[in-house]
Amino acid sequence: MVKKSENNSLDTIVSFAKRRGFVFQSSEIYGGFPAIYDYGPLGVELGNNIKESWWKYMVQFRPDIVGLDSAIFMHPKIWEASGHVAGFSDPLTECKNCHTRSRVDHLLEAAGVTADEKMSEGEINEIFLKYTKKNLPAGRQVKCPNCGKSDFTEARKFNLLVKSNLGNFTGDWDKDPVYLRGETCQGIYVNYKNVLDSSRVKIPFGIAQIGKAFRNEITARQFIFRTREFEQMEMQYFVHPENEMEEYEKLKEYRWKYFTDYLGIKKENLKWHKHENLVFYAKEAYDIEYNFPFGFKELEGIHARGNYDLTQHSKFSKTDLSYTDQESKEKYIPHIIESSVGVARIFLAVLAEAYTEEKIDGEAERVVLKLPAKLAPIKLAIFPLLKNKPEIVKKAKEIFDELKTKFMCEFDDAGNIGKMYRRQDEIGTPFCVTVDFESLDNNDVTVRDRDTMKQERVKIKELSAFLRDKLNA
Ligand code: GAP
Repeated sequence: MVKKSENNSLDTIVSFAKRRGFVFQSSEIYGGFPAIYDYGPLGVELGNNIKESWWKYMVQFRPDIVGLDSAIFMHPKIWEASGHVAGFSDPLTECKNCHTRSRVDHLLEAAGVTADEKMSEGEINEIFLKYTKKNLPAGRQVKCPNCGKSDFTEARKFNLLVKSNLGNFTGDWDKDPVYLRGETCQGIYVNYKNVLDSSRVKIPFGIAQIGKAFRNEITARQFIFRTREFEQMEMQYFVHPENEMEEYEKLKEYRWKYFTDYLGIKKENLKWHKHENLVFYAKEAYDIEYNFPFGFKELEGIHARGNYDLTQHSKFSKTDLSYTDQESKEKYIPHIIESSVGVARIFLAVLAEAYTEEKIDGEAERVVLKLPAKLAPIKLAIFPLLKNKPEIVKKAKEIFDELKTKFMCEFDDAGNIGKMYRRQDEIGTPFCVTVDFESLDNNDVTVRDRDTMKQERVKIKELSAFLRDKLNA
């Protein structure tokens, strides 16, 4: 009998991620650096597997989508054309008592009031003032998350673009700033014509990209959920104006299935959230939310953006970005639908989903990370039953040397078998292979399944095919 604990608090996940080398605080020996994280030996594997799964699903499985890797630095005019220089901001306030800075929309949300970052300064201040007054019913007054007082400065819009002095030798940072990109999709829009002219794509088609983005986020809580440096995986799909909403519905369904069918995330831990307050050019915007340890929050955004992006870049660059249909000769500016997700948001979601504390009859408790095999950092571990029997160790090393060219493997002889199983369970390794005395006579090994803990004998020469079938399942 196996009993699963429901105790996946954020603290549990954070300390587990550090203990097992998934995520470290940045610059820890210097006291840390806010809102930035580093990924350890297992974290880099999990992150790479998430990116690979996304790339396969969005590019390899889709003949109508191609990839791109554009630079982090771009012409500063791009950020004017996109609207980021003028309007990419969040409402900021400071607690007059302890000087903690917070996002006003988040403070209001914590008090059960709906507001969002797209409201004007005036609109948000009106609501903010109302909910900082005294004598409100319990729980309705906005409070500083650090000191609990309710004495704030007026909300002001704070621009999130991160500036750099790249190529600027004047010593004046504010003169013609070059920005670190605030989202990866702008690199896609400005390369749309290059891709069109150099490949065989025809509308409808998509361009996908994975890369770093930077935002001067005001609040940096909730671990890797919201950071100032992060990786985005974005796909921009170029469509005929009349087909925008039909393609949008198809993309929503395709992305939902990525999380449920392809990554195996439970449907009850996901939900749709419709944006009520749209930017002026958007037709529709939905988020897929995940039930993180701190509640349902945005995992991915799926947006119908109209022709805003290509129109703006046509105007600012003075380049014609219209599309001519080769058959009908119709000329138009394509409309764009996008899907955009942070690698770290999926990372945190799959860790929270997979982390399990189990009590097993007759045995101590075990921690097991029930990751889907395609995301597991280590696919299999190979153990000699006894490390002081050279023939067994030799055979186990031979198996490791063969399988390591096909799968990410680990060789371990540093404990008793039970301890080695527990260690692999905790990091999510789907299979453990044990070489014993019988292996020397029969050329077979024991393969043990992480989730069921069942063991079976498999011939060494069949091991690779056996594991390939199971790991692709
Ligand atoms: N191109 C559209 C765009 O960037 P967004 O809603 O600002 O839209 C899209 O971001 C996704 O990027 C989010 O759903 C989230 O997964 C991820 N993301 C955004 N800001 C982030 C941050 N500060 N830290 C981690 N991930 C972030």
